[in-house]
Amino acid sequence: MNAAAALQNPEAGHAARYAQVVRLSKKAEWQIDRDLLRGRTLDFSRKFLPDGLSRIDRLEFLSADEARLLSQIQGRTYAYIFGLVERFISAKMLDQGRAHIFGDQLALEALVRFSNEEIKHQELFRRIETMIGAQLPDGYRQVADPNDVARAVLAASTWSVLALTCHIELFVQAHYAETIAPREELCPLFKDVFKYHWKDESQHVVLDELEWHDVHARLSLAERDRSVNDLIALVAAVDGILQTQSASDAEYFIRNVARSFSVAETAQIKTCVLGAYRWQYIISGVQHPHFGRLLSSMTTPAQLSRIQTALAPIINS
Ligand SMILES: [Fe+2]
Ligand SMILES: [Fe+2]
Repeated sequence: MNAAAALQNPEAGHAARYAQVVRLSKKAEWQIDRDLLRGRTLDFSRKFLPDGLSRIDRLEFLSADEARLLSQIQGRTYAYIFGLVERFISAKMLDQGRAHIFGDQLALEALVRFSNEEIKHQELFRRIETMIGAQLPDGYRQVADPNDVARAVLAASTWSVLALTCHIELFVQAHYAETIAPREELCPLFKDVFKYHWKDESQHVVLDELEWHDVHARLSLAERDRSVNDLIALVAAVDGILQTQSASDAEYFIRNVARSFSVAETAQIKTCVLGAYRWQYIISGVQHPHFGRLLSSMTTPAQLSRIQTALAPIINS
């Protein structure tokens, strides 16, 4: 179906997009051990997360070994945070799939496949996180439990959860394509983890958009307004996790280098890690051009301005 025909008949347009997602999901299907890991291990002589995400190049007083360790700690948290958010994403897509059980069977299949892929990603990230933990010193801490976070997120309106999910899946793609893929110096297995993840996320974001539009069309103006409040609260909750995790990771790093840092250097490390996490999980998503277009199309100017006001302290920190 061409774009003009899809506009005249949105339901048929949606059906075609669900069908295409199923086709592409089947074509890209991969297994953790057979296709991705292939018996390989992580290369601890290299960085895991690139400077474009970790912002470690801003800490000019770090030695190469220290910078590599901080990149690996941030890489571990990157795997942990994705595993964490995928707990609620997978559950939400199961709920969305239920709405299609007596309808478009390809929509149902697309959402079941989406949910299943997120379960696979959670296993992948748990395994990567464990592989990193086996080599790095003891004392690393995960500050939030995935089930506690999922229960809290799923209590919010579906509109807000789909908006948050869409934002996450857009920045996942941008991180890999723009910042991870071009960097030759990174650990090859760590890069491949995010390459395989990116393949699935490219389909997920199509479904996020379809589901978000669909839910939006069924809400009253008052429900949309409450959903905007929910989205603001969800982003604040994400930021709360990032503040605690970044402080924990910075302190863990400082404890595990062979020298002590000055008070000013310690403060710089903490600020850098918090800034990196805010960039990774909030700012790179809300500033994604496609997310901006979607959010503008599903909010009033006053609602958009409320969201921007709430984000300003995070973006300008
Ligand atoms: Fe995923
Ligand atoms: Fe996903």
